[in-house]
Amino acid sequence: MEYKVLSNGIKMPMVGFGVFQVDDQKVCEQAVLDAIEVGYRSIDTAATYLNEEAYGKSTGQVMLRWLIQRDVIVIPKSVKKERMKQNIDVFDFELAAEDMEKIATMDTGKSTIHDPQDLETARWIGTFAVS
Ligand SMILES: NC(=O)c1ccc[n+]([C@@H]2O[C@H](COP(=O)([O-])OP(=O)(O)OC[C@H]3O[C@@H](n4cnc5c(N)ncnc54)[C@H](OP(=O)(O)O)[C@@H]3O)[C@@H](O)[C@H]2O)c1
Repeated sequence: MEYKVLSNGIKMPMVGFGVFQVDDQKVCEQAVLDAIEVGYRSIDTAATYLNEEAYGKSTGQVMLRWLIQRDVIVIPKSVKKERMKQNIDVFDFELAAEDMEKIATMDTGKSTIHDPQDLETARWIGTFAVS
């Protein structure tokens, strides 16, 4: 491994291991163990990756819980039975106020499918009106 010496004197490996988007808690834990075993010594983590073990729940469960705690009714779709089970298993934990706020900062305020505020989109949706 080669290293870079940072301005504070810390020797940082030129290659680290990233865990962003490794949503499943168990997969994430095993991936980090495997990474250490094969020689990685720098593991990039962040609370905003939502895969830290604070609640012992998956990212999907944390996101659903965030909505439910804001009084939003949810209708998650999944064709996988394991995820269906996960998505309904969200009533035995509570997100702390500071985590609620952190997650809120990730909201871009925009739909990933279509923007109902957009005139063309509104017209297009109107074409599906049932007579
Ligand atoms: N009335 C309306 O205007 C309207 C508009 C949009 C949506 N909807 C309804 O809302 C439902 C949900 O739609 P949405 O767009 O909000 O989709 P969503 O439920 O947010 O996301 C569905 C996607 O997330 C995955 N997923 C589900 N549970 C997961 C988990 N625990 N971990 C990781 N990934 C997970 C699913 O993949 P897998 O299937 O592979 O698990 C699927 O690809 C729709 O099916 C529909 O019934 C209604």
